[in-house]
Amino acid sequence: MPPTQSSASGLPLRDQPATEPASTPHRDRRPPPASTLILGLETSCDETAAAVVEGGRRLRSNIVASQFHLHAPYGGVVPEVAARHHLEVILQVIDTALAEAGVGWRQLDAVAVTAGPGLAGALLVGVNTAKALAYAHDLPLLGVNHLEAHLYANWIEVAAREYRVPELPALGLIVSGGHTDLVLMRDHGVYERLGRTRDDAAGEAFDKVGRLLGLGFPGGPAVERAARGQGRGGLRFPRAWLRGSDDFSFSGLKTAVLQSVRDDAGAPPVPAVAAAFQASVVDVLSKKAADAARREGVRSLLLSGGVAANGPLREALAARSPVPLFAPPPLLCTDNGAMIAACACYRFDDLRAGWDLDPQPGMKMT
Ligand code: KG4
Ligand code: ZN
Repeated sequence: MPPTQSSASGLPLRDQPATEPASTPHRDRRPPPASTLILGLETSCDETAAAVVEGGRRLRSNIVASQFHLHAPYGGVVPEVAARHHLEVILQVIDTALAEAGVGWRQLDAVAVTAGPGLAGALLVGVNTAKALAYAHDLPLLGVNHLEAHLYANWIEVAAREYRVPELPALGLIVSGGHTDLVLMRDHGVYERLGRTRDDAAGEAFDKVGRLLGLGFPGGPAVERAARGQGRGGLRFPRAWLRGSDDFSFSGLKTAVLQSVRDDAGAPPVPAVAAAFQASVVDVLSKKAADAARREGVRSLLLSGGVAANGPLREALAARSPVPLFAPPPLLCTDNGAMIAACACYRFDDLRAGWDLDPQPGMKMT
């Protein structure tokens, strides 16, 4: 079809439906065609990522260019720096993902990209790149919710022998740098949020405590490393159970850690503080998720988001969950393009976007 009109972004519009929120649930339980090849792009925060996924589950390639070394001196992600670096490396990351997959543009069925939530400038780089490439190669464009995509990391096949498809309904625990959500997934695209953090996200708490303890950025892996094999030295930090609610709160815990390291009588050793902090986060997340899974009668528990890479959290959930636990390998827990492509594959028709697709920094999942 020849271009018919111009979009606000200057790209001509062709035969694409206008972008619509996923208001019409996708009730089709059929798996996507096994041969569907999707390029997934992710630039919502500080990873520039591209991946090719086949049939929503087979990982053909997965390239992640992390920028953490650029942000480490500042102790957190600097939005302008993130956006500029995405722009510098994204085309090379995409070329590498296609080359590793052995896939050319003509074999692809779609280009999918994180539309939100995330940093506005960072999202803009991914969205505009995806639009330009999809248009140039005459491919459908799909706009994906980053949080929903984290759940779909659990659909990606890692070891063919052990592959299991999560059974629905499922309970999703999404624990990342910006979110801590308990989500009931009734079907593909049909979600109900049961709980969320009332203050800091779990990953944010790990990052703040990592900085406080002088362990560097990002704090999650650093705190886990510092705590490994360490006793808590008699330390026990509070747990905010918020009984009767599926919400979370980590700000009191963070304050308790701060007070302990500023204790005039002598601060406890860093490994003990790290271990006691981690034990508190893991205890609350695993118990509340397991309780909700039992109460809701779900068939699977889906752990996802960067904090899902945490070993003690995975072990605690595996021990407490009343239903099979799914947890992606660590490289698919933190931000990546594969989860974007997998989500897009299962929700192909709902996520079709027009050339007017705009980044949505505050995009909601439910
Ligand atoms: O999902 P993600 O890569 O980015 C966002 O969407 O936010 O999550 C990043 C978060 C960071 O806060 C990081 O400290 C945390 O995940 N994280 C971890 C671990 N690895 C990453 N937290 C605890 N233990 C880990 N091993
Ligand atoms: Zn994320």
